Amino acid sequence: MRILIIGSGGREHALAWKLRQCRGIEEIYVAPGNGGTASIAVNVPIADSDIDALVAFAKEKNIGLVVPGPELPLTLGVTDAMQKAGIACFGPSAACARLEGSKSFAKEIMKAAGVPTAAAGVFTDLESARAFAAAHGAPLVIKADGLAAGKGVVVAMTAREIEDALSLMFTGKAFGSASSTVLMEEFLRGEEVSLLCFCDGKNAVPLPSAQDHKTVYDGDTGPNTGGMGAYSPAPILPDSKLESMADLVIRPVLAEMSRRGTPFKGILYAGLMMTAEGPKVLEYNVRFGDPECQPLLMRLKTDLAEVMLACAGGTLDRISLEIDPRSALGVVLAARGYPGSYPKGMPITGFDEAEKEDGVAVFQAGTKKIGGSIVSSGGRVLCVTALGQDLGEAQSRAYQAVTCITMENCQFRSDIGLKGLRRLGLA
Ligand code: AMP
Ligand code: GLY
Repeated sequence: MRILIIGSGGREHALAWKLRQCRGIEEIYVAPGNGGTASIAVNVPIADSDIDALVAFAKEKNIGLVVPGPELPLTLGVTDAMQKAGIACFGPSAACARLEGSKSFAKEIMKAAGVPTAAAGVFTDLESARAFAAAHGAPLVIKADGLAAGKGVVVAMTAREIEDALSLMFTGKAFGSASSTVLMEEFLRGEEVSLLCFCDGKNAVPLPSAQDHKTVYDGDTGPNTGGMGAYSPAPILPDSKLESMADLVIRPVLAEMSRRGTPFKGILYAGLMMTAEGPKVLEYNVRFGDPECQPLLMRLKTDLAEVMLACAGGTLDRISLEIDPRSALGVVLAARGYPGSYPKGMPITGFDEAEKEDGVAVFQAGTKKIGGSIVSSGGRVLCVTALGQDLGEAQSRAYQAVTCITMENCQFRSDIGLKGLRRLGLA
């Protein structure tokens, strides 16, 4: 079978790495891919948003499974288009991808399905949004309705910050059409954790929990990024609670989407806040998270292509996941300045040295291969990921591997996994 992966991040490198280990795979193509995928698969210069070109390529190469990594092609209907062409695609239809593509739609579904989430109002004009803010008071969380590359959320702690966020979204049109509708929701306190489930329309099979690190600096400070590191499992959501959590926040959504005639297939990812009143959903993603995917796939032992085909084909009830009992932890190496402006073109060395230990993988994100060398081309550049007997060992092995990598103008967080270690009483 031939596989086409869509995307160019660390997640897509990890997907290619894992799918290469599956039975019966002849070739893997990645559109557009990066320096890492260039070494283990064939990069194809097609943008992740060019659905027509992706379908034409998949037909031409007789692709047996398409795996979209990011949300954009999913919201643009890549799964529907591939299906129409008779090609299996692991991911939700455009109708289901609205769970990520529209935060007001996700709220509507959560309400209908009885899933616990923050109370929220939806606004399409500045005046009524201001009136709500005045009646409610700070703190409030203000969210652009549409996709905004992880930047459409402002946690406003004061009336001033609320006003600034509202004028940015409505009058500044900071996020284009993504912010012509704005949500304002109750501020929740607690620790965040992620639950990702494989879904086939009817059945949901949970992966172990993972925890992302969204802000750029240690101690969860500084601006939000795409994610600076992740680990699995997160002690706040142990394996023994995965099924009950899936019953609370995933399976009711599958039932509601089926009831509407648009069954959900692919990965459904619930971003959770573990509050004093219980878990509440902050958001849904309709795909693997990046970098959560990297540690999660290092722990997955089941043939990933078989699981993905079972999701697309509605036969997930025949699959049980085998998970490595060890912990996995990934540290993102970013270019200095990210998530603001940053330099590009830095040569990167030390991959072989970093990967010489068993159970260490360096997944590449913003890189390209020039001749035999790898140079940086994006903000998040690498995710250095390691397995360990426990979280502490995964952390020390990952940071040990980081010391093997040389890249100028490099920044990374030094506290990936710390919250988990604290919860275990180990830090
Ligand atoms: P989202 O894209 O909805 O996950 O929001 C991005 C980040 O904003 C989350 O990971 C949280 O850290 C924060 N956030 C979102 N909603 C809330 C909320 N209701 N209360 C507190 N923090 C929130
Ligand atoms: N790491 C968060 C995301 O992929 O959206």
